[in-house]
Amino acid sequence: MKKKLLVTDLPCSEYEGKRVFVRVDFNVPVNGGKITEDYRIRRTIPTIDYLTRCGARVILASHMGRPKGRRIENLSMAPVAERLNEFLGIKVRFPGAVVGRKVENASKKLKNGEVMLLENLRYHNEEAENDADFSRKLASLADIYVNEAFGTSHRAHASTYGMTAHFEKKLAGLMVGNEIKFLSRLIRRPKKPYLVIVGGMKIKDKIGALKNIIKKADRVLVGGGVAYTFLAARGVSVGKCSVEKEMICWAREALETYKEKIILPVDHVMAEAGGGRKMRVVVTGAGIPDDMTAFDIGPKTVEKFTSYIKGEGTVFWNGPMGFFEVDDFSNGTSAIARSFALATWRGATTVLGGGDSVASLKKSGVKFSEATHMSTGGGACFEFLGGVDLPGISILSDS
Ligand code: 3PG
Repeated sequence: MKKKLLVTDLPCSEYEGKRVFVRVDFNVPVNGGKITEDYRIRRTIPTIDYLTRCGARVILASHMGRPKGRRIENLSMAPVAERLNEFLGIKVRFPGAVVGRKVENASKKLKNGEVMLLENLRYHNEEAENDADFSRKLASLADIYVNEAFGTSHRAHASTYGMTAHFEKKLAGLMVGNEIKFLSRLIRRPKKPYLVIVGGMKIKDKIGALKNIIKKADRVLVGGGVAYTFLAARGVSVGKCSVEKEMICWAREALETYKEKIILPVDHVMAEAGGGRKMRVVVTGAGIPDDMTAFDIGPKTVEKFTSYIKGEGTVFWNGPMGFFEVDDFSNGTSAIARSFALATWRGATTVLGGGDSVASLKKSGVKFSEATHMSTGGGACFEFLGGVDLPGISILSDS
């Protein structure tokens, strides 16, 4: 991949008095109006600092969750605006809308060095539809475009793709530049042995990349929701676990072709679907009963998986092993997190991707510095490593 033009490749004089639209990924976990994990926000601060110091008028825009065109109050960007006030030490303007007269006026009133944050882009369906008119409206707010949203760069949405057609220069933020640099090295020459740990729920999102990653990896440990599609493909009963039916055929072929490489869970922590904690049981070997849902990998799987995580080569981890937010189901993810940290200390190159994985690391008491690279992207990081072209990166100007 050619080197992308970075925000700092242009001198300050190019930004002074200019309105700069910065697409960020502030899709962070929020509970009761409070942000519980703000790594993705912190990583964008150097780019925002550079622009404000140069006298730019900065317009930040992000999505949060998947409100599908509806205004869902607990997916508002308001708590992010407050967090930014703290980090930047200035009052960030928050017009509470994405497009329209109020936003246009606010953007015109911005002074040099000031920052404005738009409301959740996905309050408008036009964002995910990459609507041409919506793209034009967003673009009309600014003179320069910057992508500092690595985590959303795999989406060809209005703010990551459509609106960029209206700008001559499309720059990479410092964090995006850093992600491309680090992950590109990993694509070219992963230190061997290359171990991939994949979990989380979104198998559909991961499938394209997984096809490529499996080819390159020496071993792929599959946990989390992704595992149940593979187990179903192997003919194991998966109870009420959700399975991507249209992926089963592919999963069956993959299991056949890469028999030695793909390692699946051998036991599970499960509960009666819709039931309370009392119903929690551990079953080894056998499949999952019809009325049960698995929420974590079991102890035998933990033992098996961690035996592969060594202090050598490369370890890439994307997605938790279960519903780690609930203590009873967090053991598998925590055990992987601790082994992952030890692998770093023992000399492996360790890479973690995904908002969930970041939160799970924190919950397991593992420090962010105990990973060689903490990507801000989940699906995006996975696709990038799988050699998939990310629309939000391809459109950026080459340096
Ligand atoms: C993420 O958390 O992976 C990114 O913010 C993208 O979110 P999405 O999967 O809802 O597009």
